[in-house]
Amino acid sequence: MNCLAMETNLKSLSEGGGGCEETPIEFQLPHFGAIFGLCDWCLARTMSGSLLERWWLRAVVAIGLFFLCQMALMMSKVQNLDDEKITLQAEVASLSRRCDELRMEILTKERDVVRMQARAEQLELSVRDKLSLSSNVRRNAPVIYFVTPTAFRPAQKADLTRLSYTLSHVPNLHWIVVEDSEEISNSVEEILRRAKVKYTHLNTLTNPQMKMKFSDPNWYLPRGVEQRNAALEWIRRQLSGASSGVVYFGDDDNTYDLRLFEEIRNVKTAGIWPVGIVGGLFVETPSLDSEGKVQKFNAIWKTERPFPIDMAAFALHISLILKNPKTAFTYNVARGYQESHFLSSLNLLPSDLQPLAQNCTKVYVWHTRTEKSVLSKSNQQRLAEYKNAQFTKLETDALGLDFDEES
Ligand SMILES: *[C@@H]1O[C@H](CO)[C@@H](O)[C@H](O)[C@H]1NC(C)=O
Repeated sequence: MNCLAMETNLKSLSEGGGGCEETPIEFQLPHFGAIFGLCDWCLARTMSGSLLERWWLRAVVAIGLFFLCQMALMMSKVQNLDDEKITLQAEVASLSRRCDELRMEILTKERDVVRMQARAEQLELSVRDKLSLSSNVRRNAPVIYFVTPTAFRPAQKADLTRLSYTLSHVPNLHWIVVEDSEEISNSVEEILRRAKVKYTHLNTLTNPQMKMKFSDPNWYLPRGVEQRNAALEWIRRQLSGASSGVVYFGDDDNTYDLRLFEEIRNVKTAGIWPVGIVGGLFVETPSLDSEGKVQKFNAIWKTERPFPIDMAAFALHISLILKNPKTAFTYNVARGYQESHFLSSLNLLPSDLQPLAQNCTKVYVWHTRTEKSVLSKSNQQRLAEYKNAQFTKLETDALGLDFDEES
């Protein structure tokens, strides 16, 4: 911009020079009489004869001479202007070169800024991995594969946002988020990106017959079956050679103490710990025998289950998942048997479980649940058909709806 303005200035300067041509003519006018006299005298001296003595001829010759003088003057002036023009052109050329140089410099600096930002982000991550809020965690500690099934509902964005900031404090964690949707949503993707955790974002749509409606009670059908299985499939495919790492199924609305992640990392085969506020109890926990092995459980609901525990109560070493390639969650079990069936099909016995959280004396995870959003009739209606309903921009942002962003 500056360079352009400079160029125009220079142009107008050299154009302005043209206006000066008038000045010399006016300036020369007072000399007219002198030149006329000179010519007269010259003619009288050099030529004789009656012809030259005629006054009009003398006048014509004098005027001619006058104009010749003017021409000569003009020529020299034009010569000067040409010189000036060349100087200015050289100046313009050097300025535009400088302009190019500066532009290059700006580009380099912009590239530097981008590089620095990436570096800052890298540093931030490595600082977090070394100086995490959870202490005593070494950088080369086993990776936690934190599997979160998630489905659209009014509080999905809020729940995932909260969980993302918990997980962003955990070093060596790989968050595997599996959406119950036809395609992955930008809204969830952005939450994952902002959390600056390592993540894998997958999606798989729940069989419509197995999908609960907003009005169904939340125990009505098992949730996250297909999503957890998609994560297991991904782990078996992508991490088939892994010899270290622990898999944990972490729902998006639980509450996690950062100390839980240190416990998860200590899992040798299958670890277990108490879970707060679940199954009608303040805390569900295994009870240990005198040797510190899991003996029984304090659950009060469906106590005949081999493992009457919540999904949040256990974590599995990755080798156990890889050794049992067929083990998966299934709809073909009675209500409440997901965890129990899954652990049984890994050929585990309660006594195989490694009691953690200081021999199951600490609670580091709570089965909190986000209250089902209370909505007016018309908003319940809009939610039921949210793919076709109209939402304001603000509502779209609140709910993390992003399918009509292009319009
Ligand atoms: C857990 O229990 C075992 C066996 O009773 C004991 O040896 C161990 O020190 C206990 N660990 C903690 C952290 O209390």
